[in-house]
Amino acid sequence: MRNGLYSAGITITGSGSATPSGRLSNEDLTQMVETSDEWITTRTGIKQRCVAAPGESLVDIGTQASQSALEMANVHPEQLDLVILATSTPDDLFGSAVSIQTALGAKKAVAFDLTAACSGFLFGLVNAAQFIRTGMYQKILLVGADLLSRWVDWSDRSTCILFGDGAGAVVIEATDPQRDALLGFELCSDGQLSHTLTLSHQGDSRTLLDSVQVSQGNYQPIHMKGKEVYRFAVEKVPEVISKALFHAELTSQQVDWLLLHQANQRIMDAVAQRLNLPQESVISNLASYGNTSAASIPLALDEAMRASQLNAGEIIAISGFGAGLTWGAAIVQWQIV
Ligand code: ACO
Repeated sequence: MRNGLYSAGITITGSGSATPSGRLSNEDLTQMVETSDEWITTRTGIKQRCVAAPGESLVDIGTQASQSALEMANVHPEQLDLVILATSTPDDLFGSAVSIQTALGAKKAVAFDLTAACSGFLFGLVNAAQFIRTGMYQKILLVGADLLSRWVDWSDRSTCILFGDGAGAVVIEATDPQRDALLGFELCSDGQLSHTLTLSHQGDSRTLLDSVQVSQGNYQPIHMKGKEVYRFAVEKVPEVISKALFHAELTSQQVDWLLLHQANQRIMDAVAQRLNLPQESVISNLASYGNTSAASIPLALDEAMRASQLNAGEIIAISGFGAGLTWGAAIVQWQIV
C-alpha cells in the first residue's frame, strides 16, 4: 500500500568514511583539564577522538569519505544529481557542499548544506528519499561531516571530553518502489529546548550611522546542559523509534540493529533496554571517535558495513538526536550483500 504512493524507492549502494589525522586520548585530556580516563570511560564509553589539524578542512575529509562511498557504489561523480552535506561546522558559513561537489567533479549535481546538528544525517536521509520518491532524482550523495574541535571550549571538562571530528557518506539510488529500503520514518524538533545545547553567535553593537546599528562578533564555544540533554535523549529516542516502527508496520522485536547517534554509550544502552533489544544489537564505535555529530551515524554504518556486520534483509533502526533540539528515526531494510 505505502509503496504504491511513490514512483521510486531508495536503496543505499555505497558508504565511506574519513577522519582527520590527530588523535586525542583520554590520557591526553588529563593533561589539559581535571579529569580521568576512568571518569570519561564509565560516564561516556569514549576512549579517544580524532581532531583536525589547522591545515585539514571539513571539505577534505568530506570529499575523502564521498570518494570511498562512490567507489563502493560504482557510481561516477558525474552521474550524481544531488549532493547534500549535513553539517553544523562548514568551512564556509555560506555552505561547503558546493566545494565537495567541485572537489569530486560532480558537475551535473546540485549541492546544498543541511543543518540539524547531530540529527543532520538522519534528516538528510529522509530529505534525499523525498527527491527520489517523487522521481526527480536518481543518484544522491549524502555526506555527514563535522569538525566540532573548532568550536569546543578546551578548558570546559564537561564538553571537551565528548566531541571529535569525522565524516561519513552514503550513495542513495532509486530502485523499484517495492524494494524501498526506507520502511518508515519520524522527524521531530523542539526549539523550546534550544538553550540546552548551543553554538550561538554573540555580537557587540557597532554603529554604522546615527540611526543604524548592527551586531558584529563571533560564534561562542559549545555550551551544553549535559544532564538535560541526556534525559531528553533517553526519553525521546525510544519514542521516536517506536513511531517510525509503527509507520513501517514493524515491532521492535523485528529490529536486527540499532544504529544511534554516537553520543554516549549509556544513552545507547538505555535506549536498547527500553526497546527490549539485546545489547549486541547496538552498533557502536564511540570508543574510537567520540561524538562526531552529523558524521557519527554514517561513520558507524560504514565501519559495520566494511566489517561485514550487516546482512541483506536485516532491519536497522537508525536514530539521530541533538541540538535544536532535533531528533528522528528511520527504519531501513539493508540491501547490500
Ligand atoms: N571529568 C571528571 N569529572 C567531571 C567531568 C570530567 N570530564 N565532567 C563533569 N565532571 C563532574 C561534574 O563537575 C560533577 O561534579 P559534582 O558532582 O561535584 O558537581 C560530576 O562530574 C557529575 O557531572 P554531571 O554533568 O552530572 O555528569 P553526568 O553523569 O550527567 O555525565 C555527560 C555528563 C557525560 C556529559 C552526560 O550528561 C551526557 O552524556 N549528556 C548527553 C550529551 C549528549 O548526548 N549530547 C548529544 C547531542 S550533541 C550535539 O547535538 C552536538
